[in-house]
Amino acid sequence: RWRSSLPAQLESADRSDEDSGGDIDWDNLGFGLTPTDYMYVMRCSLEDGVFSRGELCRYGNIELSPSAGVINYGQGLFEGLKAYRRSGRQRYMLFRPEENARRMQHGAERMCMPSPSVEQFVHAVKQTVLANRRWVPPREKGALYIRPLLIGSGPILGLAPAPEYTFLIYAAPVGNYFKEGLAPINLVVEDAFHRAMPGGTGGVKTITNYAPVLKAQMEAKSKGFTDVLYLDAVHKRYLEEASSCNLFIIKGGVVATPATVGTILPGITRKSIIELARDRGYQVEERLVSIDDLIGADEVFCTGTAVVVAPVSTVTYQGQRHEFRTGQGTLSQTLHTALTSIQMGLAEDKKGWTVAI
Ligand code: COI
Repeated sequence: RWRSSLPAQLESADRSDEDSGGDIDWDNLGFGLTPTDYMYVMRCSLEDGVFSRGELCRYGNIELSPSAGVINYGQGLFEGLKAYRRSGRQRYMLFRPEENARRMQHGAERMCMPSPSVEQFVHAVKQTVLANRRWVPPREKGALYIRPLLIGSGPILGLAPAPEYTFLIYAAPVGNYFKEGLAPINLVVEDAFHRAMPGGTGGVKTITNYAPVLKAQMEAKSKGFTDVLYLDAVHKRYLEEASSCNLFIIKGGVVATPATVGTILPGITRKSIIELARDRGYQVEERLVSIDDLIGADEVFCTGTAVVVAPVSTVTYQGQRHEFRTGQGTLSQTLHTALTSIQMGLAEDKKGWTVAI
């Protein structure tokens, strides 16, 4: 039982245009957690395997058995997507939410969990945005970050799939992910710790991929770096991704990004950027990207839902600092503008990537 549940399913009649945000400084959002009004909850037993109708509840703490699968054995997945405010009758826009739904389904299969259908997922996301619409930042100030979770919420003692699952979505207004804002970031290559291994879960968005990177991340931050770049665990030679985003390099006008071979998260921003670069006539290679390729690159950038497109000005590897082009005229800047213009409804969406609410 969820302590704060409130049957508050939003019907279209409740879609008033009341959307004055809270008492927030929209110009300095960052990526901190601002609690919003509602969350969406839907449950399913392992036996049923099918999620029933979900509902909106007041945002608040949740109650779990101490033996819930997620807190004992890490049986959980998360997703991340954003809603932007736009003008016109349909006032909010999502970016490729079906992709998040499908990625969750794929991850759920890996983690032995039932998952919501694509339709259920997208419906729940829309409901969550509408219920929290006063928290969608003004245009060009940020976005409402939507965090769907799928967790083994039922109690289990021996190692086995939990008997019950909860799909939950909460949301928070966000601005830039890194403290650098839109300024270029500085990465350090980690060669002692690894994020993923062949046969592991690096390619799905399980919660268990994230806490293990904290140690390297904290150490990097204490030395003034923005984030950590991980190498493959077998050869310690091929780049995988940063703690929170995918990686791209550009050399001689050719774009390359590590292929999603199971150890790398198949980012939705990654996939979109590949397409946008190809549309502009660039050759984009999904392949092994070695540390030498990185060092020899002209430009380096990271992509992710939270990060969007972040230019990288330096990468430090074994104590050596390597510099890359950033700023005016770079491809990362062009791609950042192309992507965010579609996401915010400032450019025509010829690809059908956006979903209006
Ligand atoms: C996202 O980009 O949405 C993510 O899930 C990364 C997370 C570490 C903030």
